[in-house]
Amino acid sequence: MSTYTTTQSAAKYAESQTVLAGGVASSLRAAMKPVPLFAESASGSRIRDVDGNEYIDYLLAYGPLILGHANPSFNAKLAEALQRGATYGLQHEGEIALARRLTELLPVAEKVALSGSGTEAVMLALRVARAHTGKKKIVRFHGHYHGWSDTIFTSFPSADMRQSSAAGAGAGKVPPGTGGQSEIALEEVILLPWNDADALEAALRADNDIAVVISEAVMCNSGCIAPKPGYLERMRELTRELGIVMVLDEVITGFRVNIGGAHARFGIKPDLVTIGKALGNGIGVSAVCGSKELMAHIDNGTVSHLGTLNGNCVGTAAALATLAELSKDGVYEKLERTGNAVQSGIRSLLAKHGIKGIVNGVGPVFHMMFTNEEKVENFASFNKRDAGTYSRFAELMLAEGVLVRPSGLWYVSTVHTDADVEATLQAIDRALAKL
Ligand SMILES: Cc1ncc(COP(=O)(O)O)c(C=O)c1O
Repeated sequence: MSTYTTTQSAAKYAESQTVLAGGVASSLRAAMKPVPLFAESASGSRIRDVDGNEYIDYLLAYGPLILGHANPSFNAKLAEALQRGATYGLQHEGEIALARRLTELLPVAEKVALSGSGTEAVMLALRVARAHTGKKKIVRFHGHYHGWSDTIFTSFPSADMRQSSAAGAGAGKVPPGTGGQSEIALEEVILLPWNDADALEAALRADNDIAVVISEAVMCNSGCIAPKPGYLERMRELTRELGIVMVLDEVITGFRVNIGGAHARFGIKPDLVTIGKALGNGIGVSAVCGSKELMAHIDNGTVSHLGTLNGNCVGTAAALATLAELSKDGVYEKLERTGNAVQSGIRSLLAKHGIKGIVNGVGPVFHMMFTNEEKVENFASFNKRDAGTYSRFAELMLAEGVLVRPSGLWYVSTVHTDADVEATLQAIDRALAKL
């Protein structure tokens, strides 16, 4: 067997650093060891790098690639759409078709606003919430991530980030997530522990200027922690009682854990939902979905909804093509089966090797971590994991032909096969032996 090498990626990374700020196009990507890999091509569940290595891909571009790489039907529809023009800045049928399809699939969606990224969808949802309530403050939770805009980005704790929490925040202040960020914007943010209904109730009752509670439906960005039974229901009751808008940020869970998103899976009806990532299967498209009452603030012009490329033909065609594939019989059962097979296989291998670890997940998205904790049910216990050893494990996995994110979050796609799962578990077995 030839030895694993990343020489070409290393050379390209050095070149990239001379012209591309930070050497990567999104800061998280610099975390990959031994070097941020340069992809050459990809298809199905496989991705190849410029050194000729092939990997079974569980990074899936940080989540969007629910159909895997270069899905033939998706590609054909995109190519066909491009023949008729990439974007018009005029109205077109694709926008209506996509908005209509979203209202059919997502329980919360009576009306829809289209944008380009998860960050933008969250920005719009927060504006709608403030316009609706006439109040200012935002409640969000430790360990959640809602994009990188000034009003919401704080102390994102990812092991992928070079700078996990920017210095400079005074005691009791919400720290900015990055250098150069407005601190004033965060003065309207209240940061709470998640999965703690009593803490939420106390905070919501203590302040009558709260416009919105925003939460991931599953804490995917910090340990893939599911909500405790009754927690989201309590959030729903409290926000309704106190006249606060409830936003579930489903940028990861939307179309990943169910065709109706996590809110359908859990039977919760928030006021607004943000979706992105899997919606476009790798093409930039996102949306805010909600009741007609809330979306009326966009209808009547109280809230401006802007964006040169909003509703562009490539994005709408990508989303419609993705939803067509995801609407086929058995797709979510297969995603769930594949995700659960990898998760339970990892648990067995950890036991076999006598390594203490936890795999938390909801079917096709899960987090693997090394930890002495018996359970990881909140952000505090998640922070006790051994992130350094995991990053070393992720590096060993590359040499075994499996691409995983250095933070521990895994995604599966509709095209991962049983043979992929088997090969992945064998690779994990070898990597754990070397740890
Ligand atoms: C829950 C959640 N919300 C929002 C975002 C921001 O999305 P984007 O990176 O498309 O701006 C992310 C990105 O990872 C996310 O995980």
